Order: sequence, then C-alpha cells, then structure tokens
Amino acid sequence: MLAAAGCIAREAQSAESRPPVRVAVVGTGGRGSDLIRKLTTIDRAQIVAVCDDYPPHLEQGRKYAGPEARSFENYSHMLSEMTPQAVVVATPLVQHYGMCREALDAGCAVFCEKTMCHTVEEAKTLTALIEKTGAVFQVGLQRRANAVYSQAAAMVDAGMLGQITAIKCQWHRNNPWRRPVPVGKDHPDWPDLERRLNWRLYWEYSQGLMTELASHQLDVANRLLKSLPRRVIGVGGIDYWRDGREVFDIVFCIYEYELPQPVFREKEAKSGRSDAPSEATAFSAEPYKVRVTYSSLQNNAFEGASELVMGTKGTLFLTQQKGLFYREYGADDPGWSRDGRIDRDASIITSGKTLKMSNDPWVHRGKPFEIDNQSDDTRDELVAFLQNVQDQNPETICNARTGYENALTVLLGNQAMREGRSIEFPTESS
Ligand SMILES: NC(=O)c1ccc[n+]([C@@H]2O[C@H](COP(=O)([O-])OP(=O)(O)OC[C@H]3O[C@@H](n4cnc5c(N)ncnc54)[C@H](O)[C@@H]3O)[C@@H](O)[C@H]2O)c1
Repeated sequence: MLAAAGCIAREAQSAESRPPVRVAVVGTGGRGSDLIRKLTTIDRAQIVAVCDDYPPHLEQGRKYAGPEARSFENYSHMLSEMTPQAVVVATPLVQHYGMCREALDAGCAVFCEKTMCHTVEEAKTLTALIEKTGAVFQVGLQRRANAVYSQAAAMVDAGMLGQITAIKCQWHRNNPWRRPVPVGKDHPDWPDLERRLNWRLYWEYSQGLMTELASHQLDVANRLLKSLPRRVIGVGGIDYWRDGREVFDIVFCIYEYELPQPVFREKEAKSGRSDAPSEATAFSAEPYKVRVTYSSLQNNAFEGASELVMGTKGTLFLTQQKGLFYREYGADDPGWSRDGRIDRDASIITSGKTLKMSNDPWVHRGKPFEIDNQSDDTRDELVAFLQNVQDQNPETICNARTGYENALTVLLGNQAMREGRSIEFPTESS
C-alpha cells in the first residue's frame, strides 16, 4: 500500500506568521454550513461574516461560525458594509455567476462551489474577467485536493496505465433529492419555499445531476486525459421520481475525446511486445479516441460514486477514499518507476493481473495495488485556497479555466440529452 503524496498546499507552520484571511460565506444551507465548520478548524481563516436570505439557514450559519462573525440577509449589503478578503459562494447554481462577479468587483478572492455557472456563457464571461484581472478564484471540486486523484494523475503521467482507451464513471444513489418543506401544501408560502429548498429539481436554478454530481467525476476525466471532449451524446429522463420535478432523475452520457498518440507506443513497438500491432499499422499519427461514460441514477445506489480508468497496461479504480490499481495482462514492462515517482516496490502490482474475464466478475481482480487517503479533501481544498489568497497567487488548484472547462463539459452533456442529439464541443477558435 502506498500513502499517496498529495500535491495540495500543506499547512506549513512557517507560513503562519501572516494574519488569517478574512472570509465571508454566502449561502449557509447544507454545503455552506459544512464549509463554515471546516473553516473554523483552519488557522489561516477568520470567518468575518455569514450571509443567507433564508432566516433558518442564516441562524444555522451563525451558530457554526461563532459570535464574532457578522450576519447578513442581503449579500450586496454585506459587500458594501465590509470588505472581506475572500468570499465563499455556496448558494444555488443560478446565483453563482452574479455573486462571484459582485465579490470580484469588490476586490475579493472567491471560492465558488461547483459547478462554476448555470450557463456556458456565464462561465465564459466570468473566466475572461478573472483571467484579465488576475483575481484569486477557485472552484469547489474537492477531488482536485484529494491525494488519491493526485496520485492517479502521477501514475497516468508515468505511463503506468499505458494508453488510456476508456473511462467509466458513475454516481448512483437511492434518494429523491427532495427536501421537506416546513409548511403544509395549503400554506401560501409553500410554493416559494418548496422551490427555494428544492432548487436542484428545477431547470431555472439548477442543471440537475450533471452539475450536482457529474461535475466532480467529469473533472477527473478531463484532468487525467488533459483534454476537453470533442463531442457528447446522451439520454436522460424522469422515470422514477415523477413528483413534479423538471430535472432528470436518470442520465447516461458518452463523451468522446480525441488525443494524440502517446509517445510510449513507439517504445512498445521497439520492445517487441508480442501482442503489439505490426509497425505498419500501430503508430499512425492519427489521433485516437477515448470514450468516457457517465451515469447517474437516483433509485439504485449500486456501484455508488467511482471512476474506472482503463488503459492498455492497467486499470485504476478511484474513489475519494481509496484508489486501486490492477495490472493488465501483458504489461510486464518494469518502466513504472520512471522519474523515481513510483516506488519500485510497487511490483506488488504484478499480483493484480487482470488476466482474463470469466463468468465470475471478481476473478480478474486479483490483489490490487492500493492508494490510501486519510485526509479530508474539502478541508484541504479550503487550506489550498486560503494559502493562495495569502500569496496572491491566481494559480489555484481549480482555477477559472478549469472551472469553465468543467462547466462546459457537464452543460453540453445536458444539452445533448435535452435536445436528443450529438453535441460538438467548441474548438479553441470558436
Ligand atoms: N462540493 C460538494 O461536494 C458539494 C456538495 C453539496 C453542494 N455543493 C454545492 O453547493 C451549492 C449549494 O448547495 P447546498 O446543497 O448547500 O444548497 P442549499 O439549498 O442547502 O443552500 C443554499 C443556500 O443559499 C441560500 N441563498 C439562496 N439565494 C440566496 C441569496 N440571494 N442570498 C443569500 N443566500 C441565498 C439559500 O437560502 C440556502 O440556504 C451548490 O452549488 C451545490 O452544487 C457542493
């Protein structure tokens, strides 16, 4: 087992002579409250204000933030009354763009919960603004701060997986997403309250499973493949929770990427690997395609949330807590310790050969090589953000460009499903 070496900013004691970052949190519902609780454990943070326009949630935020934080029901009012150094935006998706802009205009650094924006246009405009001003901005895709995923990226870079040909990811759940409304259906406030608390279920505020769940995992795909997809097809529907919601309760998408032929293929040919294609056909300069499948359902939690990255030399099974590497049959090139990044003892991987599939789905798994993660990636992403605020460093672990590419990926998936057609991704110039 290897303890993964994360690339996130560590809380180096030496950096702590600086005053803490004055942080305000807007949106103190589920996620905002979690973030407040994490922030209270980080020396680099001082929560100076919390804001929510729904009094029960504001009260919750105040309770977690402690008596020194001021509280506001109105966001613009908060920004005009005080100037926090950083704003954490944890409101419904439709609010992200406007709130980020206001905070940036007020000179604040911004940590914006995923997904960056409700529309592609918003994400594009916000990215242009941030890149122009050099503001410190981070999107809350916490796998970017997770040691399992950093280790996976290093293993891909070291060629341990060979040529990646497919990634399968899913987030399967068994719950309706629906939150209880504290008044009866006959109460005049019911319609407003229902939409406020269940904003995720309506297109006006949300983009459904793609922005709420798929964003995390398709960011893993984009990161490992170092590319955006070229096109996406998909189907989705409301086939179980027919309770008045608008967003799909089941989504299936296939993304197609086009990547240049990896350099190590030439080495493979020279090594005379027995099953390598003949030189005449193997090393065409043509780009090759990688297919990434994504599914989410809300009435069956089998398989949960994970990503399976499949390459010619091995397979990585990734979750936030653990990564498992299974070596593929025929991949006996010991070049895995390239650059000294992978310990040679990792030869334990040989026991994880995925020799051949049988009718027993577990037979091929063998004993895998494990990447273990003991850390809290949400807390770690906040630590990394705060350090960049202190350093005035716009190169955050999930910057605006990454946030934009992530938003584009999930939003075009929705478009493919809603319009029932294949959607091409824009090229650099478009
Ligand atoms: N990174 C993660 O793992 C993760 C997990 C859950 C949620 N999220 C994200 O966090 C965000 C919030 O999700 P949530 O589950 O906390 O939702 P939520 O409904 O529990 O909380 C949102 C809060 O924003 C408040 N709000 C809405 N409009 C406001 C306004 N104009 N001014 C002030 N407050 C306003 C609401 O009253 C509510 O309290 C979403 O973008 C979601 O995708 C991320």
